Amino acid sequence: MGKLLQVAIDGPASAGKSTVAKLVAHKLNYIYCDTGAMYRAVTWAAIHDGIQLDDDESIEMILSNINIKFVPSTEGQRVFVNETEVTTEIRMPEISNNVSTVAAQVSVRKYLTDLQQKIARTGGIVMDGRDIGTTVLPSADVKIFMVASVKERALRRYKENIEKGIQTPLEILEREIEERDRKDSTRTISPLVKAVDAVQLDTTSLTIEQVVDKIMKIIEKKA
Ligand code: DC
Repeated sequence: MGKLLQVAIDGPASAGKSTVAKLVAHKLNYIYCDTGAMYRAVTWAAIHDGIQLDDDESIEMILSNINIKFVPSTEGQRVFVNETEVTTEIRMPEISNNVSTVAAQVSVRKYLTDLQQKIARTGGIVMDGRDIGTTVLPSADVKIFMVASVKERALRRYKENIEKGIQTPLEILEREIEERDRKDSTRTISPLVKAVDAVQLDTTSLTIEQVVDKIMKIIEKKA
């Protein structure tokens, strides 16, 4: 494929974005950037330092001392905050249930948006998140908005959790997902919203391979 493209994949929690984005990036030999992991890393740092999560000033202190690193490995990307590996910790319920509060802070969004734009300048990239097509890369060549029913997303999270040894009842996961959707969609700065020029993909009854195929076809048309 000739021209190096920017591919933005947005959508609500557990719609399957990161699994699909990783596979698409691999097929294209592009960089994959998981922006959710960055918001999770900042949340981890804030909780670790015991600061109040909705206090913008304290959060700014965290940002002035944070270095978020992604290190590729055979099991996927490892995430580091300064020298501490947080790959597993950032997926824990304590982080998932607090990340929306941290992600609503102006300073956090500005800091991470700048960082993501810098990463995207390096070449072909697949970036997934909530505001990539609208705010981070508004002129991305391909924009996908992935959705799936709350029931299906909760079920996917349930299965992932079981693999990680986390036992949370399905009904609680449904409620948590609805709450995260509500917070992510109603925040004032860069809310979760479909970009007008994004292609919406409902993945409720599709396999991962089917979703990847659909996205690859959209990309091939652009390339
Ligand atoms: O995709 P995820 O579940 O790992 O994202 C974690 C949280 O980070 C999610 O609740 C919203 C926030 N987020 C965001 O506000 N903007 C992004 N570009 C990516 C994630």
